[in-house]
Amino acid sequence: MKPRNGDSPGGPAPFFPSAGGACPPSESLTQGVRHLSEGCLTPPVRIVEVGPRDGLQHEPTILPTERKVAWINALSRTGVAEIEAGSFVSPRAIPQLADSDDVFRKIERHPGVTYSALVPNARGLERALAADVRKIAVFTAASETFTQRNINATIRESLDRFHPVITSAKQAGLTVRGYVSTAVFCPYEGKIEPARVAELVQQLLDLGADEVSLGDTIGRAAPADVRRLLDLVRSRVEPARLSLHFHDTYGMAIANVLTAWGEYGIQRCDTSAGGLGGCPYAPRASGNAATEDVVYALKASGAEVSVNEEKVVQAMKELEGSLRRPLASRLSQLTGTFSLRSTTHKASSTGEADPAAALAEERRPARDRSIAQPAVRSASEWPRCLGSTGALRIACRHHRHHGISWGGEKHAH
Ligand code: HMG
Ligand code: MG
Repeated sequence: MKPRNGDSPGGPAPFFPSAGGACPPSESLTQGVRHLSEGCLTPPVRIVEVGPRDGLQHEPTILPTERKVAWINALSRTGVAEIEAGSFVSPRAIPQLADSDDVFRKIERHPGVTYSALVPNARGLERALAADVRKIAVFTAASETFTQRNINATIRESLDRFHPVITSAKQAGLTVRGYVSTAVFCPYEGKIEPARVAELVQQLLDLGADEVSLGDTIGRAAPADVRRLLDLVRSRVEPARLSLHFHDTYGMAIANVLTAWGEYGIQRCDTSAGGLGGCPYAPRASGNAATEDVVYALKASGAEVSVNEEKVVQAMKELEGSLRRPLASRLSQLTGTFSLRSTTHKASSTGEADPAAALAEERRPARDRSIAQPAVRSASEWPRCLGSTGALRIACRHHRHHGISWGGEKHAH
């Protein structure tokens, strides 16, 4: 078993080191937030923007290359650390990303931003190298059925396939991420044992992956599931090499992100601008946790995040017309009626009233007001408002939008 950096023989090291000594690990998110408000420091959170890959791979509209390039260039200016800008998979499987070679050739590469891509096999690596990609992501899953449907292989076969791919990629100086999809639930097999995930994480690291991302592919995990998973996985991989990738079908993604960060010190998070995202092999799953909403929630909870959420919203507003559908993200719904600036955590974390925001809020139609409510609450209320009404409201809205009842059946409308 690989010890975590800083692990002491007596047990795991604390997650919240402070200038004057270490804070004890929190037992709950609320306590974690309290630790932070008491002056504990955490390393900055690294946001991996997966919108141009996960976000676009399931969109009914196939965007022209130039539109994607302009969007990726705009996202590059938001402060995100990494952009998953494409996917070198079979164009027949994912036609939406068939032009990834061209996209990589045309984007402006900003210093400090890593541009990565999915690679399923040796052919994918060839394409990635030809397009001068410096970081690739291989992807498998903890469920046999999902792996079969997604990449036409058993889990074992997928690892065998990755072996030469990772070896060649490392020889070429590339960084490698390994995804484990269906890390909590599988759309075909149901609940997944955390031990299976932990084993797969270890296998990917043994193959040479530099980091691992755990995917809640169908967006069904809740904080208790995240705890069960991370309690096991954290002994295999240090937080700095672990990313979490939450889809938001049940409205739990932000609560999950805050749990992973606040309680387990996870410093990497995959998000998708506007809340786009989905996988053709994960029926009914919604988009990823929205970048701008996650950034807001993390900052409001005391995290250091270099991303400017307003710039993310702006980049999405420019894309929204091309997608021909409204965005799922909450912050993108706030703009236009009142400025994000008035609702950032700095303005609201004191709990003081913000007259400009209140006035604008009063002028909004009642239906929109209820959607916006959790975002103008104070930082200390985040876990509570997300865990109950906020999460529920998102879930209801999503289910209504997709015509799905709580039992998972489709409504006729
Ligand atoms: P296969 O059919 O077993 O492979 O597919 P094959 O080698 O027999 O090739 C079949 C065809 O694909 C051939 O073309 C190949 O040339 C072509 P044909 O002769 O039929 O015209 N092909 C390729 N073309 C371009 N680039 C390549 C490539 N490889 C084969 N690299 C394969 C196996 C993996 C390729 C296929 O199943 C595939 O591409 N699947 C795509 C899966 C995918 O992209 N899923 C979504 C991403 S995963 C995800 O979203 C989850 C994640 O977000 C985390 C989470 O949420 O949990 C990451
Ligand atoms: Mg995904």
